[in-house]
Amino acid sequence: FGFSDMREGAFTVRAASGSRTSDLRFVSATAQEGKPALGGLPATFASDAKTLRLVLRDVVSGLRVTLCYTIFEDVDAIARSVLFENEGASDLHIERAMSLCLDLTDADYELITLSGAWSREREVIRRPLAPGETSVSSVRGASSLQASPFVALARPDATECAGEVIGAALVYSGNFYAGVHVDQHRMARLMLGLHDHDFEWALAPRETFQTPEALLTYSAEGFNGMSAQFHRLCAEHLVRGKYAHAPRPILINNWEATYFNFDEEKLLTIAKTAAKVGVELFVLDDGWFGRRNDDTTSLGDWQVDERKLPHGLGSLAEQIHGLGLKLGLWFEPEMISVQSKLYRAHPDWCIHAEGYERVEYRQQLVLDLSRAEVCEHVYRSVRDILAASPIDYVKWDMNRNFTDIGSAALPPERQKELAHRYMLGLYGVLERLTTEFPDVLFESCASGGGRFDLGMLYYMPQTWCSDNTDAVSRGRIQYGSSMVFPPFSMGAHVSAVPNHQTGRITPLATRASVAMSGCFGYELDLNALSAEEIQEVARQIERVKKLRQTLLYGRFYRLRSPFEGDETAWITVAPDQREAVLLFMRAMARANTMPELVRLYGLNADMRYRVEETGESYGGDQLMRQGLCFALPTGDAASVSLTLRALE
Ligand code: GLA
Repeated sequence: FGFSDMREGAFTVRAASGSRTSDLRFVSATAQEGKPALGGLPATFASDAKTLRLVLRDVVSGLRVTLCYTIFEDVDAIARSVLFENEGASDLHIERAMSLCLDLTDADYELITLSGAWSREREVIRRPLAPGETSVSSVRGASSLQASPFVALARPDATECAGEVIGAALVYSGNFYAGVHVDQHRMARLMLGLHDHDFEWALAPRETFQTPEALLTYSAEGFNGMSAQFHRLCAEHLVRGKYAHAPRPILINNWEATYFNFDEEKLLTIAKTAAKVGVELFVLDDGWFGRRNDDTTSLGDWQVDERKLPHGLGSLAEQIHGLGLKLGLWFEPEMISVQSKLYRAHPDWCIHAEGYERVEYRQQLVLDLSRAEVCEHVYRSVRDILAASPIDYVKWDMNRNFTDIGSAALPPERQKELAHRYMLGLYGVLERLTTEFPDVLFESCASGGGRFDLGMLYYMPQTWCSDNTDAVSRGRIQYGSSMVFPPFSMGAHVSAVPNHQTGRITPLATRASVAMSGCFGYELDLNALSAEEIQEVARQIERVKKLRQTLLYGRFYRLRSPFEGDETAWITVAPDQREAVLLFMRAMARANTMPELVRLYGLNADMRYRVEETGESYGGDQLMRQGLCFALPTGDAASVSLTLRALE
């Protein structure tokens, strides 16, 4: 920025003189095998990769910039990040620091974003590029329910299965900017990185600043091709730990079954039935600690509420384990209730603007994770519980965004560093906890999918997709999410009807068919189901256990978009193409229909497949060229979930 380009640049650094002009000149280029880690930030890892480091230096200020590019052996993707260093004698101030800047020679693209709201996460929005700027962003302190740190640029003729698509996503969970600027010559510039709103970073001599990593993918096979690259990046180069490639336990969560109103007996009654039908993990959600009978109190007081659990967590764990189930626990460690012992002890530990009213959302404030002592406390409060009781799973929730942004610990001139320092603090806590408890399965959550991003996935292999558990809504949410995120990253549950968020009644079969395309579970009172329904649940679980390796780790193809019509269809195909599961769902009942015909993708053209549910068999080429014909049940939210298995 500052010379004849005239567009917004990828970075702005203010020198001690006040100048924001920069003139970077080439210093060196080196290539190395593999990929170095990014200090303190989540990032992809790879041994079979090559990394190019381009070093540039400003002619006046002493600013040194290293552009880091990694290419992978097995994915059509580039990872890009930037390191700023101050080699001068006086302070520099970074006002803007994008992770990725890509200039394209034309603007004949459409922009695809994932935009949404609470309970309506990641809707696929497609719009043509036009002169000027089009962007999505978050300045909420989290990647947000409203927008994903992702954009795609697609040729206008691109479809799910054909055409050119460039995808870009940020490996970060806080404030971000993702946008395209089209100039006077109809050239497009794509940029992705930390949002520059309310951001500034002071860089003293010899200090460095590392941007988050951006991932750029290319596909000539439409959006499914792009998603395959992202899914592979997640599976092979981002998600870590023992669950990265493992079957995920089928869980039951008590939230929609009991909300805050439970005691040990009620939980055990649900757990007993769950164990009988084949569930593997019982998750105790919000309300087990402090004095929390509603959402007005106790965040920060992570001690068991002995009125509800008189024998403590250890005893609960023993009883749950005795039933053959694992035990999971909900936490919201980044938050503080005004009504809590923690707030009384440390009223300055929350994010707040001195002198202004402290704005509560869901009756809570955000702990200031830019402070080392607050991070230490958050780490210890979770560690102490995990160390004291045998907890197998943690749901890590985060239910509000930042307001009245300020830190009691940062000096006035560094207040704009808070949002990013918060993320660095959080990542530090997560790194410690996930390293110290490698056997615990962590699921991230933020009022549903409010922080469903590649940054959180680096620490936690699965994310609760949405608080909306209605099967029809979930068709949309999981379809949109799958643009970037693989099935194994999406928490998806069968819940009661009428659905608590939409009031809709959907068949139990449809609820399960949609949920089994992710990390499958139930979130209802199993004891409220009829005997027939319980049998159906047991059959669903048996089926998921057989198919989950394919459902979670197979290749996922979107076939019919709920954003373009009333139908949702997708198929997951095992890596060896010998097993596949097709989902087809229609939201509104339709009279006078013909059998459905859906063209399948990803099968082996030379193999013959048998549809388990109908007994019919077809050639793979026929299924992909002509399609699979099947009858849909009548009624709203009717669906089929069909298993295809290769013969011989
Ligand atoms: C958030 C989560 C829910 C549930 C509640 C508990 O809304 O998204 O799944 O855990 O908090 O308060």
